[in-house]
Amino acid sequence: MIADRALALPPLNAPLARELVARTRVAKLLAGYRGRPAADREAIFRVLIEVIRPYPRDLEEETELDGHKVLLRPIRPEDELAHREFFTRLKPQDVRFRLFGVVKALDHSQLACYTQIDYAREVAFIAVSSSADDGGKLGVVRAVCDPDKERAGFANAVRSDMKGRGLGAKLLDKLIRNLRSHGLGHVVGEGFACHFQKAAARSVRSRLGHRTGWPSRRRRGPSC
Ligand SMILES: CC(C)(COP(=O)(O)OP(=O)(O)OC[C@H]1O[C@@H](n2cnc3c(N)ncnc32)[C@H](O)[C@@H]1OP(=O)(O)O)[C@@H](O)C(=O)NCCC(=O)NCCS
Repeated sequence: MIADRALALPPLNAPLARELVARTRVAKLLAGYRGRPAADREAIFRVLIEVIRPYPRDLEEETELDGHKVLLRPIRPEDELAHREFFTRLKPQDVRFRLFGVVKALDHSQLACYTQIDYAREVAFIAVSSSADDGGKLGVVRAVCDPDKERAGFANAVRSDMKGRGLGAKLLDKLIRNLRSHGLGHVVGEGFACHFQKAAARSVRSRLGHRTGWPSRRRRGPSC
């Protein structure tokens, strides 16, 4: 037995778990010693991450888009790089509509805010293509609940070259089903251009069959 400990605040992701383990004295032994093979450290990191914040795998769902398989799944801390890449593939106007301003790039803390979410209060689903030549993130939808968990604000974005194919509607439908299953009565969206909102609400309603409305200008959706 080795008296050893290292502390870190949740949530953990793979780099943080790696760094946490590296701070222990036992880390040297895990790398292999006196002819003993190294431990499977990636497995240890995975266990640490899952124990601290279990990933809701049961929410994964496969769907089809233009005849290609697309996975809708909860976002994970490991998605940070893919999220950065996704952001670079949004046209400036789409970024403006989503983030209410001109944002050229996302830094690490913003990306952490997008990918390391607290599933007790927030939910975020991404759409990932399973075709090899188009692998990567195609879209994202997220919602943050009010503290009383009666109302959630949502925001979504679809990669600019993938817009208009039904992915935004699929993501939104997935989100609304999930929020409803948690008893949320009101799900509200925010768009940058208010004059588009009524038409957008009508459109979402006709596509998804959910009752729709739009919030006042002062209420903001999820900021990250
Ligand atoms: C809004 C957006 C997510 C819709 O995704 P999409 O894949 O292009 O939408 P779909 O092909 O599923 O079409 C859904 C329909 O609902 C409308 N809609 C409006 N707002 C929507 C939203 N937030 N989510 C989904 N659909 C939306 C679409 O315009 C479309 O209307 P139509 O059927 O009359 O053409 C996408 O255009 C986008 O990323 N825009 C830039 C960012 C943005 O404006 N986000 C919303 C504010 S947070």
